Amino acid sequence: MDVLSSAKRALPWGRTSAGGVIGGLRALLGTDGGGGRSLLPSRWKSSQPQLDPVDRSDEEGGGDIDWDNLGFGLTPTDYMYVMRCTQEEGGFSRGELARYGNIELSPSSGVLNYGQGLFEGLKAYRRADGPGYTLFRPEENARRMQHGAGRMCMPSPSVEQFVHAVKQTVLANKRWVPPQGKGALYLRPLLIGSGAILGLAPAPEYTFMIYAAPVGTYFKEGMAAINLLVEEEIHRAMPGGTGGVKTISNYAPVLKAQMDARSKGFADVLYLDSVHKRYVEEASSCNLFVVKGGAVATPATAGTILPGVTRRSIIELARDSGYQVEERLVSIDDLISADEVFCTGTAVGVTPVSTITYQGTRYEFRTGEDTLSKKLYTTLTSIQMGLAEDKKGWTVAVD
Ligand code: COI
Repeated sequence: MDVLSSAKRALPWGRTSAGGVIGGLRALLGTDGGGGRSLLPSRWKSSQPQLDPVDRSDEEGGGDIDWDNLGFGLTPTDYMYVMRCTQEEGGFSRGELARYGNIELSPSSGVLNYGQGLFEGLKAYRRADGPGYTLFRPEENARRMQHGAGRMCMPSPSVEQFVHAVKQTVLANKRWVPPQGKGALYLRPLLIGSGAILGLAPAPEYTFMIYAAPVGTYFKEGMAAINLLVEEEIHRAMPGGTGGVKTISNYAPVLKAQMDARSKGFADVLYLDSVHKRYVEEASSCNLFVVKGGAVATPATAGTILPGVTRRSIIELARDSGYQVEERLVSIDDLISADEVFCTGTAVGVTPVSTITYQGTRYEFRTGEDTLSKKLYTTLTSIQMGLAEDKKGWTVAVD
């Protein structure tokens, strides 16, 4: 039986409905989740994805979705990929597709109690030159997850298992891959300590999962240049910490800075190094580049910076175009005196920065057609969407 057929039979962890943790709580509290008085806050109910009981994995076209206005909101899709292993097994062997829905976790799971978890982000594009889909450098995400798993004391899927799982998830959700030029299917691989543990130690069981959602631009500004705020009090990472791996625990601690900045009209926050408070590291959701004359610089990945797949690709493409690119310390003075600044990431792509505010002063940068970021954006997205020849072998076909 193929993986898709087995997914149609059952939900993971032997569940028969989308109730998951909340469903279990309702049963415990004697609430029916329907007309009766619920002891649970009403917004909890709406967090449950609406499962479509019909198998649509062979269909094209994602329902009523407005492809022209895709942002980065969550559109639940049809299937997710799930693979589990115990600590004794020491590695993953076989996974399967399951209907997308809530999952059950022990209240004492390693991920819930101690944040033992990693995530990844990558995109699948509808191919321009024929049927099928394209992934961009999925092996790089697999390797980054393996590296992070070492840091977080978790087993991780092999590169082959990771890429296979991503391909399966794309094919099972292919009706959600946006039309050419309208966006991409965002894949979110997760690796979590799902086993129960009370004392601080690695969890006894691990779950690797991938879900998918169609997305357009990340920032509400769309394709327009963004405004950033330099944060001086809250730090994203510290030497010896986990800033250089994609652990889930890097993200909630920056929400406060991000939300405060958003309330003032900034798209995101730029963090400084926590030792000198002088060197720029990255934004909450992406890496950073500065351009001055013919020279490009980006903060070196020495443990506190996330080694972005888009970051690495952009460094290579800029060098191919004749630019000198330095990976080094980038001081706040380098930043405010730059001609051009841009951000890179899977979710944000290549996003130009129009202003940066530091200690109450707003600094402006070049944006528009005649910029390096625009040129690199076009080169990168042309490769990703199959509009330009992939001379680097970065794309992986999914058919
Ligand atoms: C990505 O770019 O894929 C990320 O994981 C960043 C996240 C904050 C959306």
